[in-house]
Amino acid sequence: MNIILIGFMGCGKSSTARFISKNYAFRFVDTDRIIEKKMKMNVREIFEKHGENYFRRLERKIITTNLSFCSDCVISTGGGLPCYFNNIEALKKIGWVFYLKLSFEDIISRVRNMTNRPLLDDTEKARLLYNERISCYENAHFFVDASKNVDVIAQDIISKISS
Ligand code: S3P
Repeated sequence: MNIILIGFMGCGKSSTARFISKNYAFRFVDTDRIIEKKMKMNVREIFEKHGENYFRRLERKIITTNLSFCSDCVISTGGGLPCYFNNIEALKKIGWVFYLKLSFEDIISRVRNMTNRPLLDDTEKARLLYNERISCYENAHFFVDASKNVDVIAQDIISKISS
């Protein structure tokens, strides 16, 4: 059984997935890191060299290749991944999907000094994207309050899959 974390950039998907992997019997998987490793470039470089559509196709491919073979993994997804090509439905077939919910204001304060997220360069555009994506994220099996500490979020996720 797999745990899949979705939500906007900066909501804590990777740190929560790492925590779950360290403390429970799940293998850590991060879709952005798989893509970066394959392309030997970071996400910003991929966007700049090949464009966003190309990146979205890479994400789609990761679902049908790497993710569909996961077993007992905790998977951190790129913030846009569930919202293209109806990927959310494919994710829901692979595991339990958790939406890590966090306000836009909290997100902006968390990601202030990070530079590897091209879609956050313009805060107003990012706000529109945030609002647009809510309805996609809300298709998750479960919602989690991502403003809590990582151990509390992890416990919440584990208790939801155990009940
Ligand atoms: C993106 C989120 C990023 C990364 C890319 C695009 C998005 O991942 O996949 O910059 O469209 O929201 P994180 O959510 O891990 O920052």
